[in-house]
Amino acid sequence: MQPEPGRVRLVGAGPGAADLLTVRALRAVEGAQALLYDALVADEVVALAPAACLKIQTGKRAGRASMRQETINRLMLRLARRGLQVVRLKGGDPSVFGRVGEEAAFLRGHGVEVEVVPGVTAASAAAAQFGFPLTHRGEARRLLIATASVRDGALADAGWAQAADPETTLALYMGRDRIEAALRRLIEHGRSPRTPALAVENAGRPDARLLAAPLERLGAEVAAAAFDGPVVVLVGEACALAQPAARGEVDPPQPLARRAP
Ligand SMILES: C[S@@+](CC[C@H](N)C(=O)[O-])C[C@H]1O[C@@H](n2cnc3c(N)ncnc32)[C@H](O)[C@@H]1O
Repeated sequence: MQPEPGRVRLVGAGPGAADLLTVRALRAVEGAQALLYDALVADEVVALAPAACLKIQTGKRAGRASMRQETINRLMLRLARRGLQVVRLKGGDPSVFGRVGEEAAFLRGHGVEVEVVPGVTAASAAAAQFGFPLTHRGEARRLLIATASVRDGALADAGWAQAADPETTLALYMGRDRIEAALRRLIEHGRSPRTPALAVENAGRPDARLLAAPLERLGAEVAAAAFDGPVVVLVGEACALAQPAARGEVDPPQPLARRAP
């Protein structure tokens, strides 16, 4: 007899700190029988799964290549068909550059029940941690989430025009090596070079770093900072409200701040 198909939960792990998981995400992880997790998921979150849970790392980490999407899909399906409670854990919110649409469509297409559990996305974590809003009445009326990565579909011309709108807060994910080019492009499309801009590495984690500079300088400063953690870049008037110094992490002339644990 065919076992009953289990359920797959596509769960947002948030930006890294375990206490930024939602209660629903925590319950899903604690009840998981099989856990497939991406490279950006913190070890302390993976450790919340039961000892008996099958834990599979799917992302690029410590020199190991990442699993192909097709392999991940097939694996989730196989585990669900064995009747297991499968949790697919992704950094941040699974619906933001998390391939949740593809994975959910694949599983549903094979008759597997899917539940999506949202998470705190990197831009929200950065804003909360460094005290600035993503929208701000009268100044930042829109939030545009985009990527600097070419492979994952960088902005087309119409997108750059939206990103250049002075009332838009632009959040750029991925493509750390392309940030300088992306920010130059934004200026070419009319965004003021003096627009406040930020780069936040490891947002939401105790070792987060903030780099603040006008748009025209941020790209070069990101390149010089040689970040090695995940970085989200934010551009817009609301970024002027970021408060690295107010939290005592940095003297005003020094652009790089490290959050005290
Ligand atoms: C594949 S995307 C996944 C985004 C994720 N689903 C989210 O909602 O945050 C990976 C990119 O997200 C950004 N990112 C994820 N976690 C981050 C963090 N803790 N701090 C800064 N940026 C982060 C980086 O731009 C990274 O390259």
